[in-house]
Amino acid sequence: MRALMLAGAALFTLAGAASAQESEPILQGDHIIALRQAMMDLQQGGAAAMKAAVETKADVKPLVAGAKGLVASTGLITTMFPHGSERGHETRAKPEIWSDPSGFEKAAANARAQAEALVKVAEANDQAGFATGLAAMGQACGSCHRQYRTQ
Ligand code: HEC
Repeated sequence: MRALMLAGAALFTLAGAASAQESEPILQGDHIIALRQAMMDLQQGGAAAMKAAVETKADVKPLVAGAKGLVASTGLITTMFPHGSERGHETRAKPEIWSDPSGFEKAAANARAQAEALVKVAEANDQAGFATGLAAMGQACGSCHRQYRTQ
């Protein structure tokens, strides 16, 4: 889990560097697509670890860091689909991301709100609240995928 978080932090630093230097992007071509796919995979890994904790009725307090990571990563989703990244690296991004940006932003904001709620219940070590919150988080991920990702 810790290695996952460190890898995630490194990815977000790279993403920051990409957006700060618009004229001379560090990330070129398919790199931004590879990066967003890696970020999504890390989110999946984090959520799977959380699910395992819920199923084994483990304390959820240690999941605060992972939940905070989800707040950060879901908050960055909209920056990772710039124009020019519609195709390449076997992307499953649907054209609707660019034709319906406000819907996409709403789906990302919803996921971020669910992640923020997860931080709160994890901090309180509220296992039942965390189980409910994780299910809502999964809904938020899935609802964006249904609309904006090819299956
Ligand atoms: C606002 C929309 C949105 C939200 C919210 C979102 N995703 Fe995604 N996700 C996408 C899109 C679009 C792709 C396709 C990216 C691509 O291939 O370029 C994707 C791809 C993925 C992939 C496949 C990555 C790969 O290697 O190809 C996984 C796994 C994934 N998401 C997990 C998650 C999880 C877990 C969450 C919730 C914590 C989440 N996503 C939240 C839009 C979203």
